[in-house]
Amino acid sequence: MIRRKNIITVAIDSPAAAGAGTQAKLISQHYNLFYLDTGKIYRYIGMLKINEKKKFSHKLVRRKIENLKLNYLKNKKLLSNEVAISASQIAKDKKIRNIVHKFQQRCAYNPPKKYKGSILDGRDIVTVQVKDAMFKFYITASLKIRAKRRYIEYKELNKKISYKEVLKSLRNRDKSDKERKYGPLKKTRDSILINTTKLSKKACFKKIKSIIDKKLNN
Ligand code: C5P
Repeated sequence: MIRRKNIITVAIDSPAAAGAGTQAKLISQHYNLFYLDTGKIYRYIGMLKINEKKKFSHKLVRRKIENLKLNYLKNKKLLSNEVAISASQIAKDKKIRNIVHKFQQRCAYNPPKKYKGSILDGRDIVTVQVKDAMFKFYITASLKIRAKRRYIEYKELNKKISYKEVLKSLRNRDKSDKERKYGPLKKTRDSILINTTKLSKKACFKKIKSIIDKKLNN
């Protein structure tokens, strides 16, 4: 694999709906970094599983990921709760994780030339994918506030789902993502904890930015 030298790499792990995606986007814009929301890839495969129940196989997943275009990840259908649940199921499979890893590592270590580096967020980014990242964060928030935020997002997308259902779904996904055998979500000792429960988007970005700037300007 080609590794570009002297690039900025940022790795973020977080449970669902903790605000990692929002922050990653802001950081990517501010520092001109290539952003990959790795959850979207699992969601893409999760949707494939829903749509291709019978044909679904490792071979099909490999073929789809080999031909994956970043544009496909913008599909609004990937945002539904059903797809999220399916994603978290297929994400337990070691073979599927291995197929996805290659794609993610290429994005992390060899981002398009116009970018100064990369930023990836997901569940196993610090722990597995980009272990040597220049910046490592663990972004979290209380389950209730995450459910509230996700519920509002669903409302804005006109999805018919109750707050209770969102809460239950996030709780189940947290458990499954933390307890699975391969690539479980956990905070490493060397990653910086950011708890967004009581922080606004702006305050959170300010905090992360000051951490990054401190090191970059050293
Ligand atoms: O982040 P998001 O909620 O979109 O992720 C959907 C699911 O994909 C997660 O619940 C998790 O099971 C899986 N995932 C993963 N590893 C990642 C990113 C997401 O297993 N790096």
